[in-house]
Parts: sequence; structure tokens; C-alpha cells
Amino acid sequence: MGKDVIVACDFSSAEETLRFLSAFHGRKPYIKIGMELYYSAGPDIVYKAKEMGCRVFLDLKLHDIPNTVKKTAAVLSRLEVDMTNLHAAGGSQMMRGAAEEIKSAGGKTLLIAVTQLTSTGDEMLKNELLIGAPMEDVVASYAKNAMASGLDGVVCSPLEAGRVHTVCSPSFLTVTPGVRFDEASRGDQTRIATPARAKVLGSDYIVVGRPITAAADPVAAYERCVADFVD
Ligand code: C5P
Repeated sequence: MGKDVIVACDFSSAEETLRFLSAFHGRKPYIKIGMELYYSAGPDIVYKAKEMGCRVFLDLKLHDIPNTVKKTAAVLSRLEVDMTNLHAAGGSQMMRGAAEEIKSAGGKTLLIAVTQLTSTGDEMLKNELLIGAPMEDVVASYAKNAMASGLDGVVCSPLEAGRVHTVCSPSFLTVTPGVRFDEASRGDQTRIATPARAKVLGSDYIVVGRPITAAADPVAAYERCVADFVD
């Protein structure tokens, strides 16, 4: 599995997204369609992006009782996206059911689990979520559960990518948001790294939103990510 940059298309309409992608002039970035865009534009935006030749990570972060997630995974498998996800916090039974549906659809969709959101810091983990273990241990434990449940990888921060590969396997995917060119632009993200640092730390994919979408020149910002992370 090659390393790649996934552009988080956090837009509120199909029009805005297609306008954004048209600036890439024939380059076909791997894109992430998250809940803002999917709830606004529906499955059509997935079909349009695929028609344009983009690979699609459908980031809907499923988290519900096992039966509901299993049936939702069956519906989503028909979209034949390249990657989709759920929350590991939903538990092993929930993850296993979803993995069975995705795999039995026979497509190429990878199913990955969100460990702890990259906006969650140590304070929040301890004081709001009442999880006493260190962040790295929580992420590693969720990753082991995800692997045992038949998933292909996890969403974590670049800071935890190495630990996940050690406790799971080097081929267990680490898809890592929380990417910033510099400390000053972290916004709501807590566990961050630059594209170059994420490469050193062993991330398989970086997910980059605002550093690209809000840049004065988004294509140049994307190329900078590719140069620093992939090349
Ligand atoms: O704009 P920014 O680069 O912070 O965007 C990161 C993207 O990755 C957002 O779409 C966010 O929903 C997603 N994400 C994340 N942390 C996770 C899982 C997904 O930031 N753990």
C-alpha cells in the first residue's frame, strides 16, 4: 500500500467541492468525504468524485449498536469507496459485524477504526472521557481490538503511528489527520505533526484539510504535502 496524501473536502456543498477539485487540473487527489459534505450532498458526491477518477475515503465515523452499524455498513459497501470507517469505541462486536459486511460485499473497500480523535488531548482524555491510561496506550489497545475484529487499520495521530505498527503489524494501516505545516495553525487539533514528521513517524496516509483547503493556493499546499510526505 503506497503512501498518499488524502485531502479532507470539508465543504458544505457538492458545487463548492467540485469547484475546489477543478483547480487540480487533471491531478486526481485521494479525497476524504466527511459528514458535513455527505449529509449535504448525499451519495451523489461519491459517484461524482469517482467519475472524476478520485479515490474516496468516506469518513462517516459510524458508532452505534452493533446491529445498526452492521446494516449501515452493508448499505455503504454498495458505494464501493476505497476506504470507510467507524469508531473503535463502539466495541469489538460492532467492528466485527461491520467488517463482515464490508468483506462479504467482495469489493476493495478498506475498513478502518477511529481510535481517539486527533482533537482530543491528554487533559480531555482524563478529565472528560475519564480514561486514565496514557493516550498512546489507549490508541494501541483500540488498534489491537480493531485488528482482532478484522479491520484493515486505524485513524490515529502521526505521533502514534509507530506504536500502532509495533503492536499490530507494519502492514496494519495508519491513517493520520492532525497534520499541520506549523504549530501556529493547529486550530482545534491537539496531537499534530508536519507532513515531513508524519513520514518519519511511519504514517501510511496523512489526512489534510484546512492546511490545503484554506490555503491561498490549495494546489501548491497539496503539492507541498506530497513533496514532504510521499516523494
Ligand atoms: O482541517 P483538518 O486538517 O484539521 O482536517 C482533518 C480532517 O480529519 C477533518 O475532516 C476531521 O473530521 C478528520 N479527522 C480528524 N481526527 C480524527 C479523525 C478524522 O481530524 N481522529
